Amino acid sequence: MAGRVSPSHDTSGPGSGKGAQARHVAIIMDGNGRWAKKRHLPRAVGHKRGVDAVREVARAARTMGLEALTLYAFSTENWRRPEDEIGALMGLLKSFIVSDLDEFAANNVRLKIIGDYKAFAPDIVAMVENALARTAGNDGTTLVVALNYGSQAEIANAAARAAAKGAITPESIEAELDTADLPPLDLLIRTSGEVRLSNFLLWQAAYAEMWFTEVLWPDFKPAHLQEALDAFARRERRYGGR
Ligand code: FPP
Repeated sequence: MAGRVSPSHDTSGPGSGKGAQARHVAIIMDGNGRWAKKRHLPRAVGHKRGVDAVREVARAARTMGLEALTLYAFSTENWRRPEDEIGALMGLLKSFIVSDLDEFAANNVRLKIIGDYKAFAPDIVAMVENALARTAGNDGTTLVVALNYGSQAEIANAAARAAAKGAITPESIEAELDTADLPPLDLLIRTSGEVRLSNFLLWQAAYAEMWFTEVLWPDFKPAHLQEALDAFARRERRYGGR
């Protein structure tokens, strides 16, 4: 019977069976603080090395042919961190845009933000919007950065928009999610040995494969991404069927 499996999962297409190439990978980049602590360095240094890992992994995602890579850079809960750490993260975000935007633009990478980035300082909002505009026409890999993102709020907002338009169904909610224009999430990676979702892509993860590694985010290399993709390709996804 050809019934509905999941709003976004066509089980007959690529990305659905054993040996398939993942189209959309998301990463909870965890362990910057512990990486720094192990070396008796300030946490901000761990975040800085975390950005170096972002750069390398984003490049690898492009050369490996991923359609989308979604990175959890700042959650709605991260506002609870000390002011100086939040300031360091914002500074890193700005310098990342300054240093890497040309490379993204030149390599057909489209930038996309999920989350309420408009709550950030006006200079960051302006930089982000400039980066979005400059890469909007690109149709290679989409690099999705989650900024001031929380999945429960995303789902609640999507449900409210769906209700305003008519019936609330899994399909109508999914069509209103921030990720509606992306391929279904295939693989969710979390680094640093923590095994939880932390309010990240809860809806989208319904049928995603999970890959957890002890590697701290600043030490995460393209080879680790490849390892996760290889593990994904060996798994058989049944979407609740047999
Ligand atoms: C978790 O490490 C990481 C974060 C809260 C932020 C992730 C941000 C970056 C990698 C840099 C900014 C990103 C971009 C795209 C410019 P943690 O501090 O929670 O580590 P811990 O659990 O070891 O303390």
